[in-house]
Amino acid sequence: MSVRRLAEDNIQPAAFAFTAENAAWAEATIKKYPEGRQQSAVIPLLMRAQEQDGWVTKAAIEGVAEMLGMAYIRVLEVATFYTQFQLKPVGTKAHIQVCGTTPCMLRGAEDLIKVCKKKIHAEPFHTNADGSLSWEEVECQGACVNAPMVMIFKDSYEDLTPTQLEHIIDRFEAGRADEIRPGPQIDRIYSAPIGGLTSLTGDTTPSKKADSAKAETASKETEAEKPEQKGKPDGSTPKPVEGEIAASQQPALDDANRPAAIDKPESPDDLKLISGVGPVLEGKLNSLGIYTYAQVAAWTKNEIDWVDGYLSFKGRIERDEWIKQADALARGGEEEYVRVFGKKPR
Ligand code: FES
Repeated sequence: MSVRRLAEDNIQPAAFAFTAENAAWAEATIKKYPEGRQQSAVIPLLMRAQEQDGWVTKAAIEGVAEMLGMAYIRVLEVATFYTQFQLKPVGTKAHIQVCGTTPCMLRGAEDLIKVCKKKIHAEPFHTNADGSLSWEEVECQGACVNAPMVMIFKDSYEDLTPTQLEHIIDRFEAGRADEIRPGPQIDRIYSAPIGGLTSLTGDTTPSKKADSAKAETASKETEAEKPEQKGKPDGSTPKPVEGEIAASQQPALDDANRPAAIDKPESPDDLKLISGVGPVLEGKLNSLGIYTYAQVAAWTKNEIDWVDGYLSFKGRIERDEWIKQADALARGGEEEYVRVFGKKPR
């Protein structure tokens, strides 16, 4: 955990003022709180000041204190407590906050910090050459189940490998952060178990579990009048849950670009050694006749696109370097993987 102090005086601006638009927003925000409770707006106002100037200056702290009728020290306490507030200038395109608390540390945060040191600067809170990137280590960000993780501005990126973090940093630096989906970077939805659900896998909707007799009666009564419905009760087609495959977008199984399938060998490879492949994905790949590292390593671009589309991956196969990983595993097993990637496959 870094010591959180205001930046040196020589880089502090002499004054702070919200832009006209932000001042109107601040005024409206303060009014949301009951009379006598305006101080509750301190965090949103400080955050707005940071979004406006890129960091929280001493002048901004004093300005917010005056707007809310608070002692300077009270606002200073808030600004220096939360690591979401930057107390000195940070990268203009991304400030990477790597969680270094125990669960993330045990799951590889040190390797993520090495990536930051290599790609940004050897020291935290120093920007890279063009001032676009910076990093720091922070305490738990509340996403421990999906450790290790980083926070970039208001989004978290979880279940990270060093390779994935490098990719994320590159996208931010290139101004293409919208290509990265925040949240888990593996095949899980939010903080569901890796590899899919292990319990409560049946239909657990209350309507099926409770009052089933009542529901059945009601259903019979209205069945004759109802139009045919699929999915939601209002008849609309339900959106696929994030991470689920929308059947209509899946490429066809008989598409020419589908990778060649083989019969299950006596000793299939453990595809889970490819980072990004869990038990569920391995099962899906096996169901497509994919059992070996050599098969994956030999996929052409069209075949990668087919699998990517079939699994609704949005580019993850290339981002996670499945082909490179599979190639190393096919050529020399875990030893070659370690030689190529500098770490053991998971
Ligand atoms: Fe990293 Fe909690 S320990 S998010």
